[in-house]
Amino acid sequence: MRKKIVAGNWKMNNDKQETTTLITALKAKGAFNGVEVKIAPTAIHLSQAVTELNDSAIEVIGQNMHQATNGAYTGEVSVGMLQSIGVKSVILGHSERRAYFNETDEALAEKVKTAVAHDMEVIFCFGEELEDRKADNHFAVVENQLRKALFDLDSADWKYIVLAYEPVWAIGTGETASPEQAQEMHAFIRNLVEEGFGAEIAENVAILYGGSVKPANAQEIFSKSDVDGGLIGGAALNADDFFAIVQSI
Ligand code: PGA
Repeated sequence: MRKKIVAGNWKMNNDKQETTTLITALKAKGAFNGVEVKIAPTAIHLSQAVTELNDSAIEVIGQNMHQATNGAYTGEVSVGMLQSIGVKSVILGHSERRAYFNETDEALAEKVKTAVAHDMEVIFCFGEELEDRKADNHFAVVENQLRKALFDLDSADWKYIVLAYEPVWAIGTGETASPEQAQEMHAFIRNLVEEGFGAEIAENVAILYGGSVKPANAQEIFSKSDVDGGLIGGAALNADDFFAIVQSI
């Protein structure tokens, strides 16, 4: 049985008090029915979030980390720093990191290697831009992103990998891929993983969808057989909406 996962990417939102307020509201929600629920506050609030959630099933995850384990990288956060405060999972390759912070496929491959070498789970994001989809190039773009960042991994490393397909044109735009478009791409991705690493790994890897998932559309998207959950941005900032999405699986 593949894991079902709903992860909230808070991005650069919520100050210290707002972080506590949202966590308190999430903790007041009911059971998650076997869904792994994760939240990614900004780096400086991770430690606080871990403490505030220590009696909860909600897991705290990072939004990013550097590929080096330490050194002269002003402003960056290392895998060991995350782990030292109890963070066991990190988002890598988000389209905003790629677009605004010049994260290349090559740098992301290094980040993924560092993470898995330290037993850190990775939620690896990728997805095409609107012009790629219009040009019917979306499968090639996604394949290229995955091959460059993940296909040098050893088979044993895949137990740390969660995939998150996030078409860039759907992130924060209110526009979602249709459930059929999501399923089509997720099946393509699973097939690629099977070609590279075999049927068992492909069958077990969770593939999340991200991009304007809301309570109103979550159920239909999650009903697709190769969609194993979601990476949620805007709607993760509201406890009611986020919980409704969790319950839609
Ligand atoms: P969104 O963001 O849900 O606000 O579209 C998704 C994401 O960036 O992971």
